[in-house]
Amino acid sequence: MSHNTIELNRQRQPLDHLSSVWLFGYGSLIYKADFPYLQRKPACIYGWQRRFWQGSHDHRGTPEAPGRVLTLVEAPGERCAGMAYEVTPDTFEHLDHREKNGYLRVFTPLAWLHETGQTQGLVYLASADNEAYLGPASDTEIARHIAASKGPSGENSEYLLKLADALRELGEHDEHVFAVERELLGLMNPEF
Ligand code: SIN
Repeated sequence: MSHNTIELNRQRQPLDHLSSVWLFGYGSLIYKADFPYLQRKPACIYGWQRRFWQGSHDHRGTPEAPGRVLTLVEAPGERCAGMAYEVTPDTFEHLDHREKNGYLRVFTPLAWLHETGQTQGLVYLASADNEAYLGPASDTEIARHIAASKGPSGENSEYLLKLADALRELGEHDEHVFAVERELLGLMNPEF
């Protein structure tokens, strides 16, 4: 599958017939909402985990030296917390462009973090068959890769550090993210 998913998302999932759509963000979409939204609420999805297994050619790396960003992998019994945004369908023109490097949108149930109830929402998922997929590596390797990468949206380390802060603000512990953050901080401050 080509890593530019803009057309694929448009064709396989037209949204124009809907008045609004919930979008679930688990990575940069938690802390960088550069799009208009009607409301936002902390939410979670069940059966998925965040992993730094996706290559970034367009934001936190380049085609020659991709950075490492998040995707979701299936994890029965686990839960992934993030931020949900209610948006109008035209917002997906911007979002599809932003998430074009291998991510496909899929509908999934979302549960609210701080209130009861759930709804259906879209999540951007980069599966193992996309060209930019990098797959698993140790926490140390991921941290080294992130420390060495940057792209048009800035340093790859900023992506990780902002995400870790945003998760702490949500009161969430994500061992994968925090373990890579510890490794990265060790690389950035070797005296600690
Ligand atoms: C997301 O944040 O939900 C998708 C991955 C990313 O853009 O970091």
